[in-house]
Amino acid sequence: MNAIETTNLTKYYDSLCAVDHLTLSVNNEIFGMLGPNGSGKTTTVLMLTTLLHPTEGSATVCGHDVTREGEQVRKKLSYVPQDMAVDIKLTGRENVLFFAKLYGIQNPKDKVDEVLGVMELSDRADDLVKTYSGGMRRRLELAQALVHQPAVMFLDEPTIGLDVAARKKIWEHIGMLRNNGMTIFVTTHYMDEADKYCDRVGIISKGKIVALDSPSALKSKLMKDVITAKVSGSFTAQPIEGVRLVGQKDDEITFTAENGKEALPLIAKALSDNGMKVHSLSLREPTLDDVFIDAVGSHEEPRHFNDHQFRMMLHRRH
Ligand SMILES: Nc1ncnc2c1ncn2[C@@H]1O[C@H](COP(=O)(O)OP(=O)(O)O)[C@@H](O)[C@H]1O
Ligand SMILES: [Mg+2]
Repeated sequence: MNAIETTNLTKYYDSLCAVDHLTLSVNNEIFGMLGPNGSGKTTTVLMLTTLLHPTEGSATVCGHDVTREGEQVRKKLSYVPQDMAVDIKLTGRENVLFFAKLYGIQNPKDKVDEVLGVMELSDRADDLVKTYSGGMRRRLELAQALVHQPAVMFLDEPTIGLDVAARKKIWEHIGMLRNNGMTIFVTTHYMDEADKYCDRVGIISKGKIVALDSPSALKSKLMKDVITAKVSGSFTAQPIEGVRLVGQKDDEITFTAENGKEALPLIAKALSDNGMKVHSLSLREPTLDDVFIDAVGSHEEPRHFNDHQFRMMLHRRH
């Protein structure tokens, strides 16, 4: 039995299909659902955590059906939503204790000490949360999510709005939970983080999984080198042997080639024949961003991205 199984899981909001026939199995790994804003990540998590009814299809968590056996499902999982849920007027310890009592945990004080220790918050446990950094608040939420010893943890955009060091630390803690046997379902729109820290990723675009595998397998399936050129002027596409033009964005043109080293001089020549000034030409391995563009065809515009809501959330987090 896999910790999470979905079969044709689908959600419509009126006529908008937010999640489109999703079929997935996830077990004792860090599974990253990766996609731009509005691609259906939160909707998927809400259905898997029993907070939203699917329109069609089904899903189980630890063998229990999310629609018919909601209570058993909720016993097995923890959900850390994208928005902050801690009370900044209380101390870290009081926040977690409140949660532990809510869950009816035996010896709540010991459990609270334990989870605060796991999240490296022991020495700040008695300070008010309003004095915590964004990263510490996130870790406090993770500590809360651990009090009832879930088998499966859902994290929606756990690193959004955090600085680089805090993000790294959050991922290290997530990795530690996985190593202790937990199944982690995490959403993110940061391709680089998914690449580095997830065991497998499902790339989602407009509600559909368009690529599913480990980051390294996805990149090697692409079997291409990526060449970027910083230039002045715009490139009038002309075929270059063995090279595919991906596109130009501002002063940067991106190409892919099976053999990047052989392609470099050909590209340099084509650009200068085109009368362009080339400032730099670089060769790199493909990233998940390239996998995404390859699968979807382009960088899609976020659908109905709520900028105001996003800024309010960041504001609350700091
Ligand atoms: N409650 C809702 N009512 C109507 N449309 C919604 C609702 N929640 C989300 N949507 C839409 O569904 C799509 C997927 O949203 P969401 O699951 O939040 O994506 P993500 O988490 O990947 O940013 C978006 O187009 C969004 O605008
Ligand atoms: Mg979301």
